[in-house]
Amino acid sequence: MTDFERWRAVDEYICGLFVGADPALDGALEASDAAGLPAVQVTANQGKLLQLLARMIGARRILEVGTLGAYSTIWLARALPPGGQVITMEIDGRHAEVARANLERAGVSDRVTLLEGAAADSLSRLDGEDIEPFDMVFIDADKQNNPVYFDFALRLTRPGSVIVVDNVVRQGNVADASSADPGVVGTRRLNEVMAAEPRVSVTEIQTVGAKGYDGFAVALVLGR
Ligand code: SAH
Ligand code: DHB
Ligand code: MG
Repeated sequence: MTDFERWRAVDEYICGLFVGADPALDGALEASDAAGLPAVQVTANQGKLLQLLARMIGARRILEVGTLGAYSTIWLARALPPGGQVITMEIDGRHAEVARANLERAGVSDRVTLLEGAAADSLSRLDGEDIEPFDMVFIDADKQNNPVYFDFALRLTRPGSVIVVDNVVRQGNVADASSADPGVVGTRRLNEVMAAEPRVSVTEIQTVGAKGYDGFAVALVLGR
């Protein structure tokens, strides 16, 4: 058994215990796969962690950057109390189309607004509107723009909000200061920005599992 096979087996074991079968989530994965979308969505146990975090803080307004087939979106939408909302952003029209169908099938379309287009544009538009701050932000799109997304996340949240960033370890490449990979460069820049930012308290956790070796950041927005 390779390390990866072991990580995957443990994810299956964990998900069997704490997630189980779910027609809407399983259907979203099947539809995304059938449409040829890349299978880079969060694992089921990661999706549940996002949902639990949202519930722990009583999130009513959640912002997601990077929808893909809306797998993580469904997890987040199901964390909402009545009247809550997820706004999710996706640049790829085909991904957005699959996502809309998956959200519909999951019965959460009424709670989710999908903004199609480059996230930086959508974020800039939101920033110009007089909207209520978000309670939680999940950043999971093109990694080279992570510093941009984090900057907007800070502008669009309030003290007590939580910002989660996916894929901050990328096989450990994040520790390579000489990497030219745009994703690694973007994430290293994000890390420098977060570390120097007095308005957040941040940590990052390395993970192994069905998606390999990666990690995520969790930031708490502090008083300003
Ligand atoms: N959060 C999803 C996975 C997102 S994968 C889940 O866990 O289920 C990353 C997504 O970000 C892809 O669908 C990709 O098309 C999208 N993306 C990439 N660049 C983007 C950009 N500039 N603006 C908005 N979305 C972008
Ligand atoms: C990729 C994107 C993700 O959001 C992820 O969790 C894993 C991989 C990617 O684009 O390669
Ligand atoms: Mg991701």
